[in-house]
Amino acid sequence: MQLLTGKVAIVTGASAGIGCATAKLFAREGAKIVAGARRQLELSTLVAQIEEAGYSAVSLAGDVRDEAFAKALVELATNKFGGVDIAFNNAGTLGKMGLSVPDISLLDWEHTLATSLSSAFLGAKYQIPAMLKRGGGSLIFTSSFVGYTVGFPQTAAYAASKAGLIGLTKALAAEYGPQKIRVNALLPGGTDTPMGRTFANTPEAISFVKGLHALKRIAEPEEIAHDRHGVARRRGNLRQSHLSAGKSTSRLAQMKVSYSSVFDHTAGQVWAVIRDFNSYPVWVASVSESHIEGGKAGDAVGAIRSFEEYGTRIRQRLLAHSDLERSYVYESCETLGAITYYQGTARVIPVVDGNRALLEWSVTFDCPADQQANCANSLQDAMPQWFKSLRAVLVE
Ligand SMILES: NC(=O)c1ccc[n+]([C@@H]2O[C@H](COP(=O)([O-])OP(=O)(O)OC[C@H]3O[C@@H](n4cnc5c(N)ncnc54)[C@H](OP(=O)(O)O)[C@@H]3O)[C@@H](O)[C@H]2O)c1
Repeated sequence: MQLLTGKVAIVTGASAGIGCATAKLFAREGAKIVAGARRQLELSTLVAQIEEAGYSAVSLAGDVRDEAFAKALVELATNKFGGVDIAFNNAGTLGKMGLSVPDISLLDWEHTLATSLSSAFLGAKYQIPAMLKRGGGSLIFTSSFVGYTVGFPQTAAYAASKAGLIGLTKALAAEYGPQKIRVNALLPGGTDTPMGRTFANTPEAISFVKGLHALKRIAEPEEIAHDRHGVARRRGNLRQSHLSAGKSTSRLAQMKVSYSSVFDHTAGQVWAVIRDFNSYPVWVASVSESHIEGGKAGDAVGAIRSFEEYGTRIRQRLLAHSDLERSYVYESCETLGAITYYQGTARVIPVVDGNRALLEWSVTFDCPADQQANCANSLQDAMPQWFKSLRAVLVE
């Protein structure tokens, strides 16, 4: 089933990397694409590929620092396809790297901020009125793990621009959520694109970037595109500011509940019971059956477990799994009652004193504002039950 049928999506930075992969994915999901970047040849190739596959796209070459370009993209979307539903403001630049602040010229600073931050403001300025005419939409910005999850020396302008996008996202989400425009920033980890390769360009640099992420690898642009797709298609009128860090780190939702307890077993013993994503029936008393879809292994990233709990079929996707850290991260595949999205993290930490283990479990989630207390309470109530049944299995 195509999930973006009838939607019109503007994608900037579409001539390469994440933007190009996202434009193709959105098109395959039925959206009509308006692709923007400076390089016309790459854009024309993209449009031809999308059309060859039987979908619709147009392109416009221009510079995202130019207000007239932001306006023209919206006009093109409106004239050609009737309006704008999704805008993926993705173009960005690292700017001049390897300079400390005293050595960065004001011109270079402004160039980076204009390309990576002001461009998003200019895009939103014209996209929002167009979305309001359609009764709502999805506005998405590409921030980064740089400037939010980690700080690197000599990336001041880039980090500032990407952190600025998070502030922009939150303000717009609060302002336009009531008018059914969902506003999200996604925070990719290191991704194998022309931009990513300017930094991860030696075996040492590649290994350094991999080491920064929970999965110890660099993402493919197609994986990041899937995250954009998830955000673009998410339905509902819920006011939502959503930061997502791609496959490599974590996604932050509006609400969080957590629970932790010390077990009189070693970290290795506790991890051995819970490490397989398909092991719920072994240790969660309320789960009657579980299987991994498509025959994947229970520790394979991307594996979807489908299990039955209290008569409800629940599907969750494994996002990260580390035997070294004794932790895994998973996300919802579908809504669960009033919860529109959730992400769970389990981590077993050795307690050196007494050779015991601390199990930490946390769930971040989104739901309508008037359901937050109910949803938090029911998740919070469930957690001690999971721990209790795990304790019973360990004692056996
Ligand atoms: N790769 C990573 O590891 C990583 C990690 C976190 C976040 N990000 C962010 O993800 C986004 C996409 O990056 P990418 O990795 O896909 O890089 P990329 O492959 O180098 O693509 C960058 C895109 O931005 C466009 N662009 C740059 N400056 C522009 C300008 N002034 N006007 C119009 N378009 C412009 C480029 O097109 P033209 O050159 O044709 O104009 C290109 O399509 C960026 O915002 C980046 O900061 C990347």
